[in-house]
Formats: sequence, structure tokens, C-alpha cells
Amino acid sequence: MSLETKVALVTGAGVGIGEATCRGLAAAGALVVVSDIDQVAGNRVADDLNKGGYQAVFMRLDVCDEAQWREVVADIVARFGSLHILINNAGIANICGVEDETLAGWRKTNTINSDAVFLGTREAIRVMKESGGSIVNVSSIEGIVGDPMLPAYNASKGAVRAFTKSVALYCADKGYPIRVNSMHPGYVATPLVSGALSRLSDSDAEAFTQRVLASIPMGRMAEATEIAKGIVFLASDDASYMTGSELIMDGGYTAR
Ligand SMILES: NC(=O)c1ccc[n+]([C@@H]2O[C@H](COP(=O)([O-])OP(=O)(O)OC[C@H]3O[C@@H](n4cnc5c(N)ncnc54)[C@H](O)[C@@H]3O)[C@@H](O)[C@H]2O)c1
Repeated sequence: MSLETKVALVTGAGVGIGEATCRGLAAAGALVVVSDIDQVAGNRVADDLNKGGYQAVFMRLDVCDEAQWREVVADIVARFGSLHILINNAGIANICGVEDETLAGWRKTNTINSDAVFLGTREAIRVMKESGGSIVNVSSIEGIVGDPMLPAYNASKGAVRAFTKSVALYCADKGYPIRVNSMHPGYVATPLVSGALSRLSDSDAEAFTQRVLASIPMGRMAEATEIAKGIVFLASDDASYMTGSELIMDGGYTAR
């Protein structure tokens, strides 16, 4: 998979799957724009890539901010000529039953996980429609099946899955050379999972973890690098006949 000459933007790239994806894209030859709301984490990833001889820059981007999307994409086009790859990766999760979810919590999850994917996708299409591109929206197995303790997360990730198909069809109808696909990881050992568990009592966290592990046929969570390989594949020309598709990497979770 060669991504030489490609310019890629990854959101939520300071840690976890986003960081691993930046490393995968850079190793394949892309110039990587590492973006995150967390400047310290994002700068660390970009600096580290540059020290390793790869091409990377950090740009701060709160994915919920429409104006920032416009500024960052315009900055990328001005500095690097174009944007070829967008990975809509930033996301959050909160573990609680539907009766305990608040409207504020519901809105926060859906704003970051779903509304922001719309903002980024729309902005990318505006610059990709002439020169071509690939957009990968990071959904989840939780966009395909339900979990009793993830109501807002399920809703947000299901929205990303369906939105991806809508946009893929729109680009194909218009004749835009843009592919749009969704990635559906199972559980991945990242700060998202450890952070969500840390907000539960010890016994609830243990019960959630045991239930999840028992549901994974392979018996373990994924490493972020395993998921990044799938994202880089979808972003690359090796996936040239894929659009509106979903790639599931879940250790067998949804096979039951
Ligand atoms: N970890 C999992 O088990 C898992 C499974 C399936 C899907 N996913 C999805 O993969 C994506 C990445 O997950 P992760 O586990 O690496 O998460 P993470 O919590 O480890 O990292 C998420 C990153 O997003 C950033 N972020 C949060 N809000 C932001 C905002 N408003 N603007 C910009 N950046 C913001 C954070 O600063 C952080 O760097 C998410 O969309 C998540 O829902 C994760």
C-alpha cells in the first residue's frame, strides 16, 4: 500500500486508534496532518513521526466546531496543495443505561461522534470532488449491534454507518472520485475504554469488562495498531472498488 504524495487528515489523533492510524498512514508514505482537541497529545504524535523521518504536522481541531473545520481544511490546501484522505476518528463513550442517560450526555456523545462526522465529510468533499479522495468514518460494532449500557454511543455510531452509505451514494451519483467507507472496530485497548470504565464503580467496571470479554470469540480486545491497518487499507487505492462499505474488525464479536 503506497500513499506517497497523499495528504491525510486524522481527527482525534493524539492517542489510541487515531495515533496508530497516523503512524500507519505515515509509514505508507502519506503526509499526515495530526489533529486533536488536545494540543499536547497531538503535538507529541506529530513530533514523534517527524523524528522518525516521516512527514507530519499538528493542527488543533475541535471536530464539533464548524468554523475550525473550514480553517483547517483551507490551511491544508494552502500549505500542501490538496487533501486526499480524511479519517473521521475522534469519538467519546459513556457507559450507562438509558434510564440514567441525560439529554446533555446524549447530545455530547452524538455531537462529537456523529454531527462532527457530517461536518468533516462535507468539508472534505468540497475540496476532494475535483482531485479525488477517500474518507473513512470510524464507527464501531456498536453501530451494528446494541449494548444495554451504550444507548447514546449505539445511536451515534449507527448514524455514522448509515450516513457513510448516503454520502458514498451521493458522491457516486455526482461522479465525484471520492470513496466513503466506515470502519467498525470491536473493543480496543485505548484510553476511550479505560476512561469510560474509570467513571464506573469498581464492581460495575469489572462486570462490564467480564461481559465484554466473554462476548469476544477471540477472547481479547484489539490493539489499536490492528484497527489502524484496516483504516489505512480503506484509505488507500488498494480499496479502489470499495465505497459505502463497512469493514468489521472485532475478533468475531458480531459473528454470533
Ligand atoms: N476503543 C474502542 O474500543 C473503540 C471501539 C470501536 C470504535 N471506536 C472508535 O474509534 C475512535 C477512536 O477511539 P479511541 O478508542 O482511539 O479513543 P481515545 O479516547 O483513545 O482517543 C480519542 C481522541 O479523540 C480526541 N477528541 C475527543 N473529543 C474531541 C473533539 N471534540 N475534537 C477533536 N478531538 C477530540 C481525544 O482528545 C483523543 O485524543 C472513536 O470514534 C471511537 O468511538 C473505539
